[in-house]
Amino acid sequence: MSALALFGGERAKTKPFPQWPQYDTREEEALKEVLHSRVWWRTPGTKTLAFEREFADFHGAKYGIAVTNGTHAIEIAMEGCGVGLGDEVIVPDYTFVATASAVLFAGALPVMVDVLPDTYCIDPDAVEAAITPRTKAIIAVHMGGHPADLDRLVAIAQHHRLALIEDSSHAHASEWRGKRIGTFGLAGTFSFQSSKLMTAGEGGIVVTNDDEFERQARSAHDCGRLPGEWFYSHYHYGSNYRLSEWQGAVLCAQLTRLDDQTALRHRNGRLLDQMLGEIEGITPQTLDPRCTRNGQYAYIFHVDPSAFAGISTARFIEAMDAEGIPHQASYPPVHRLDVFQNGEYRKRLHPDHAQAEHTFLQQSFPNTERAAWEAVWIPQYAFLGDEDDMQEIAQAFRKIQAHAAELA
Ligand SMILES: Cc1ncc(COP(=O)(O)O)c(C=O)c1O
Repeated sequence: MSALALFGGERAKTKPFPQWPQYDTREEEALKEVLHSRVWWRTPGTKTLAFEREFADFHGAKYGIAVTNGTHAIEIAMEGCGVGLGDEVIVPDYTFVATASAVLFAGALPVMVDVLPDTYCIDPDAVEAAITPRTKAIIAVHMGGHPADLDRLVAIAQHHRLALIEDSSHAHASEWRGKRIGTFGLAGTFSFQSSKLMTAGEGGIVVTNDDEFERQARSAHDCGRLPGEWFYSHYHYGSNYRLSEWQGAVLCAQLTRLDDQTALRHRNGRLLDQMLGEIEGITPQTLDPRCTRNGQYAYIFHVDPSAFAGISTARFIEAMDAEGIPHQASYPPVHRLDVFQNGEYRKRLHPDHAQAEHTFLQQSFPNTERAAWEAVWIPQYAFLGDEDDMQEIAQAFRKIQAHAAELA
């Protein structure tokens, strides 16, 4: 019998990883309090309001606007910075569809560009090259928790008078040069979907320091209302993006653990960097020295097939899953998604844009392609474990390498 778990051998992972989501009496008590209060709705409530303040404060922001999910957070950010029909917004090709679909929702064209080969975050040179007179904003994604190059992106945004939005769905509590991400640009957006670094099942928030942005975004998230005005006055186009009191209460409790959990994930991530650095053919996402804390939504690494008997990434993942090491799917390139390739996205655009040729459709973004098809992601909860967990991950990979020929 082979030693590989895939062929009936013992699994390399002997003790279970921590479970996710995590909760204790803090969530239980918070939910009971909302239940008994009979105030389940955000508008007269106190829990979501408190969460907005606490989360914004934690990220060094003046304002937080809690919304229904991370996709809606980006949609609201587009409203806040006035992106609309006929505008262009530069986004990374390597991200979840929401980064681009929120731009389409505003009637603007998402212009995809490549990411850097080492951090998998948007390439600032590619951003500069994609700027046109119609460009209104740049959305950076802090991939897997690792901040994009905020020094360069802030400078580019300032120089060209563009709004910089940080899609921080992977990066709660991540730091760049010792400061938490989210307010380097005009606004930061976060998701609280169940796999994220803190969760209420669904949910999102937008943080900002900008008064005008906040006014626009808050109004858009609440049916075009303005604070202090009559409930049935609606001043702008808006919709209902409000978060419920249940979620606000749970998120207040989740936030109390975020700092310690982030420190732990960062520490375990760096331990695993060292261990995997000794295995030929495995290259972890590079930690930029300016990233002082990686929230580590995903531990991303590249597998060189030539060091693993030529097996595909999919085969590596199959063997790794069997050994008890969980994985999370990498993203396909956004411009290759059906909605872009079949032309459906054009229905959202200004006629000038809808009829134009879009070079990104035919372009090859080599670093995105490599990340999409050859990178492997380990989900964040694995990094809430201890050093033994990291040892077992490394041991599983050494085992797969030793038996790679059997997988070929
Ligand atoms: C980078 C990125 N942006 C946006 C989102 C959208 O968040 P949600 O699923 O809460 O709508 C996600 C969630 O998966 C994401 O990973």
